[in-house]
Amino acid sequence: MNHNVKNICCIGAGYVGGPTMTMMASKCPHISFKVVDINQERIESWNDENLLKLPIFEPGLKELVAKTRNKNLFFSTNVKEAIEISDIIFISVNTPTKKRGLGAGKSSDLKWVEACAREVGKFSKGHTIVVEKSTLPVRTAEVIQKILNSEASDAKNEKSFRVLSNPEFLAEGTAINDLENPDRVLIGGEDKSAMRLLSQIYENWVPKEKILLTNIWSSELAKLTSNAFLAQRISSINSISAICEATGADIREVSRAIGKDSRIGSKFLDSGPGFGGSCFKKDILNLVYLAEYFGLKEVAKFWEEVVNINNWHQKRIAKIVVQKLFGTISEKKIIILGFAFKANTNDTRESAAIKICKDLLEEGAELVIHDPKVNPLQIEIDLKVKQFSDIKNESIDYPKNNLGNWKFSKNLNIFDNAHAVLVLTEWEDYKNIKWDHVAKKMKKPAWVFDARSIVNEDLIKKSGMNMWSLGDGSSKNDIRDF
Ligand code: UDX
Ligand code: UDX
Repeated sequence: MNHNVKNICCIGAGYVGGPTMTMMASKCPHISFKVVDINQERIESWNDENLLKLPIFEPGLKELVAKTRNKNLFFSTNVKEAIEISDIIFISVNTPTKKRGLGAGKSSDLKWVEACAREVGKFSKGHTIVVEKSTLPVRTAEVIQKILNSEASDAKNEKSFRVLSNPEFLAEGTAINDLENPDRVLIGGEDKSAMRLLSQIYENWVPKEKILLTNIWSSELAKLTSNAFLAQRISSINSISAICEATGADIREVSRAIGKDSRIGSKFLDSGPGFGGSCFKKDILNLVYLAEYFGLKEVAKFWEEVVNINNWHQKRIAKIVVQKLFGTISEKKIIILGFAFKANTNDTRESAAIKICKDLLEEGAELVIHDPKVNPLQIEIDLKVKQFSDIKNESIDYPKNNLGNWKFSKNLNIFDNAHAVLVLTEWEDYKNIKWDHVAKKMKKPAWVFDARSIVNEDLIKKSGMNMWSLGDGSSKNDIRDF
């Protein structure tokens, strides 16, 4: 085996592949990295000369790309060439939940992973280490190895493969820090020398004691379990927020109190509009499918409930908005603050805002959506409703469908004649809103609904507006006001 790694490539220039390879390139200047993708537009964005169009927004990423791009980091659509020259190949393509067929709605669709494995099998030369970076169902490595072996046995030139699992634990918005200072790096495999080689790449910047070597199935399962545990914490705290509202307790006080127990810990205890992002739901459903597959019905039911309660929680928020606005929001202007699934990302995948806005549109609301980073075209795709630009212009006759309308605003001069504001993403911009000014512009009685607990309740109340804060039982009495 060639112990001198010179070339590494990653198939998939997405949220995971792009930042991961950029970090590796910056820490391993002696190795050349190629990030390849079948999506030409995406690659062109990564190659944008002035770094203005990078396909993802991630604090610190632009600076790292500027440092490494076209030195030892290259973005390209030439998958074949990248595979041919690489000693190590990361697979970081998307693995969405299957829409039809066996395991539909739960298991991952591995067609992209399989296609990649076939290409690697076909074009690679000599000995190649193939690394699963995408989150995959347990035992996928076996499938990849089988595909590679069958290509190898057909090949006239000598090739061999080793498959490793090296799941990614980065969270969006903090990806660069997560990659630079990981809690741990997990490498699962059977071939010790391949594992050592990959470990050596990470040892360029990660302390050796943080690099965990496991068997391949443990590594795959640890990734799913890690995300399932994190999502479960969010569902747990969100379910308690409903009890807080019913009883007069305050979820922030409850979170603080339980977080002081070192066995529980204080992280990931912020109640919010429900978890989103590309991973949590998909990975839990994967776990559910796995449990069902092995006949573990009770285990499957247990984990499925984490997703069910998340869906219920999102519906609950939309319902509260309707209830508080006298049971109808038809043609009422509602300001939506934040559409990304969390702050510091432009990603909207599985964002709670999608379901909540859809429910509000269903009730006939006129939404004005603001987000500092999300592209309005993406919102159009997510809501499956076209943007209506003349929203709440008193001189316009609104289309008389039963659905509401929405429009996007780049700035925050949007509060005129609004009935309510709903905070869905915890962007810094929203913490500094001058609520006394806003209150003067809104229709009375004006409401602020804060699903992220970032708004200063005293300022809202002082400015004469009504306030509902998620999990704050003291708002309970307001419901009974009408
Ligand atoms: C993906 C997976 O969704 C996730 O399960 C895993 O943990 C990491 O990889 P992400 O990087 O967020 O996450 O996905 P995405 O941003 O959709 O990027 C995947 C890229 O792969 C896309 O740009 C797509 O064009 C590319 N791709 C897909 C290929 O280059 N070749 C293919 O055959 C299929
Ligand atoms: C997650 C995992 O954290 C990461 O390790 C894995 O590799 C990919 O999936 P990500 O989806 O980027 O990362 O974001 P994360 O910060 O985990 O947030 C997920 C969702 O939970 C967001 O919608 C967020 O708003 C929500 N959340 C998080 C809360 O509602 N409260 C919290 O306290 C934390």
